[in-house]
Amino acid sequence: MKGIVFTEFLDLVEEKFGLEMVDKIISQSELESDGIYTSIGTYSFSEMLQLLENLSSNTGVSIDDLLLIYAEHFFSVLKESYSGLLESFNDPIEMLSSIENHIHVEVRKIYPDAELPTFIVESRTDTSLVMIYKSNRAMHHFGLGLMNKTFEHFNSSATIILEKIKEDGTEVKFIINKN
Ligand code: HEM
Repeated sequence: MKGIVFTEFLDLVEEKFGLEMVDKIISQSELESDGIYTSIGTYSFSEMLQLLENLSSNTGVSIDDLLLIYAEHFFSVLKESYSGLLESFNDPIEMLSSIENHIHVEVRKIYPDAELPTFIVESRTDTSLVMIYKSNRAMHHFGLGLMNKTFEHFNSSATIILEKIKEDGTEVKFIINKN
C-alpha cells in the first residue's frame, strides 16, 4: 500500500482524535515501518489494518465507518494531486465507470507497485451504475466514500446500495442510482 495512504490517514487521525491517539495506535501496532511513512514509499497492507483495528477499538467507531470518513478526506487529496485526471470527466457515472480502464490505469503508471481493486461494470444507464468490487483488502467502504464524494464533486448525489457477494467483503456489488 502506498505511503500517501498512510500519511494522509495519520494526518486525519491527528485532526479528528489528536496526536496522542496517533502515538497510541502506532505503539499498539506491530509495524515494520515503526510508524514512519513517506508518501512515495510502499508499506504492507497489514500495517493499515492494524492501525484501523486499534483506532476502531480505542474510539468505538467501526472499521467501515473509519474507512468511509477517511475516503471522504482522501478524495480532496486526489482532487489536489490529480486535478487533470478529474477534469477529464463531465459526469459522476462516467467517472466511476472509468476507474478500472482509465483512472487506476493512470495510477499504475505513476505507482507501478500500487495495490488497486478491480471494478467490473455490470450495467450502466445515464442515471445508474452497477459495479462489482473485488479486492483482497476488502476496502469497500473506502470505495463508497470516494463514490459519495465523486457525486458531490459534480454537484450531484446518489443512493448507493452495497451488497456483499462474499461475506468477508472481498467481493461486493455496488448498486448506484443518481438522485
Ligand atoms: C486505492 C488513486 C479514484 C477506489 C487507490 C490508491 C491510489 C488511488 C493511489 C492506493 C493504492 C495503494 O495504496 O497501493 C486514485 C486516483 C483517483 C482514484 C488518483 C482519481 C483521480 C477512485 C475512485 C474510486 C476508487 C473514484 C471509487 C470507488 C479505490 C479503492 C481503493 C483505491 C476502493 C483501495 C484499494 C483496494 O480496495 O484494494 N486509488 N483513485 N478510486 N481506490 Fe482509487
